Amino acid sequence: MQYRLAVLISGSGSNLQSILDAQQAGHMDGTVALVVSDQSKAYGLVRAQKAGVPNATVRKKDYESLDAFGEALLDLLKDHHIDAIALAGYLKILPANVIEAYKDLILNIHPALLPKFGGVGFYGVRVHEAVLAAGEQESGATVHLVTEACDEGRIIAQEKVPVHADDTPEQLQKRVLEVEHRLYPKAINGYLRGVQ
Ligand code: GRF
Repeated sequence: MQYRLAVLISGSGSNLQSILDAQQAGHMDGTVALVVSDQSKAYGLVRAQKAGVPNATVRKKDYESLDAFGEALLDLLKDHHIDAIALAGYLKILPANVIEAYKDLILNIHPALLPKFGGVGFYGVRVHEAVLAAGEQESGATVHLVTEACDEGRIIAQEKVPVHADDTPEQLQKRVLEVEHRLYPKAINGYLRGVQ
């Protein structure tokens, strides 16, 4: 489908950039029509502005309840006629009403080989620290559907990278991130192309 995608971020937005670049290169059937951050200083918002994509900050702490926060997000998504959502380093748990309204239309990228090293508390460099502490020989990136159970939705795509004996968490993070940038735009487009 000629989808209108919202990308939700909290930080640097390098995955957002890879999606924008893929769109620019003509590799996406749809367009990034909205970027939403929960942090007003997220660099991803600057990336959105540079690409001329409408963007907004919606902060949970400005709402009385998770439900009200979700309603505000839903209003914004509706205003921009959004068909599907890609989480890209978004650090908030999405409210249930948003997950319900966009059932099977929300994707996330996780910097490890789920179902290993996922769930609450596994984010950022912590994921890579845990992979190294467990003595894993390989890690990677996983694209999955978002359900209410954190990091447990159906896996859409996965790609492995080797773990080197002398890796620091930061080195492993960088190796995985390079894979993420290639994998995520392709997985989003491949998945949404199959959705009617
Ligand atoms: C990525 O490692 C992604 O897998 C995880 O958060 C990080 C976001 O990085 N969910 P960026 O903001 O896209 O640079």
